[in-house]
Amino acid sequence: MRFLIISLVFVSVINVDANVGEKVRLVDDLFQNYHKAIEPVGPKDDPLNITHMLQIRRLVGYEDGILTLDVWETLSWEDKRLGWKPDAYSDLASLSLPTDMLWTPDVEQLFSANELLPKNTEHARRLQLFSDGTILYPTHNQIMNTYKCQENKEWVSCDLQFSPWTYDGTVINVINQDDVLNSDLLHPGKSSLHFVSASARRNVVTYACCPQPYVDVTYTVTFIKLPKSA
Ligand SMILES: *[C@@H]1O[C@H](CO)[C@@H](O)[C@H](O)[C@H]1NC(C)=O
Repeated sequence: MRFLIISLVFVSVINVDANVGEKVRLVDDLFQNYHKAIEPVGPKDDPLNITHMLQIRRLVGYEDGILTLDVWETLSWEDKRLGWKPDAYSDLASLSLPTDMLWTPDVEQLFSANELLPKNTEHARRLQLFSDGTILYPTHNQIMNTYKCQENKEWVSCDLQFSPWTYDGTVINVINQDDVLNSDLLHPGKSSLHFVSASARRNVVTYACCPQPYVDVTYTVTFIKLPKSA
């Protein structure tokens, strides 16, 4: 009996090892000729589509025309160089990898006053790579703010705008996942503002200087000012 238990434990240890071995082989194979300095291309050399997703978790505050939010931001794209056939690797369908192993897009929030806030980047980030080359790159809770706001007596409306910093629209195209943001996860906090809506749109802008289009995704977040309770 004891032998059976010991050998069962032994077998399961071997299985775990085999799985780790398969992951090592897969990672070795995927990254053998991979250059993370070079961005992936879309199908038929089209621009690479990057899907931007935003979830507002909490309204931190609105002061001096600056809106501060606690959000989850997720980027998703496809890097065809990193696809594999799961049946050649013991049916491994996805990998969790440190973000610095591969190319990641430099999508930045424009009009941010974030230098006023500590950035939540101390912990190394990870992303998820799927066998078809799809990548999901989520952030943890992230404090973001914006000074692109309009307000009157009743409401405040602010834009959060995201765009690739160095790539124009001929190389990278950002698209918004949703047109209207889901606010199910929004925690009201102690703010004197009440969330009304958040909508997203994709903009394509051409500047006088250059022929290339620049693409951004802009979320407009609107709040009602609650009357101050006595
Ligand atoms: C990329 O996004 C554009 C919309 O901006 C869409 O027309 C096109 O089909 C997308 N390409 C792929 C490969 O999904």
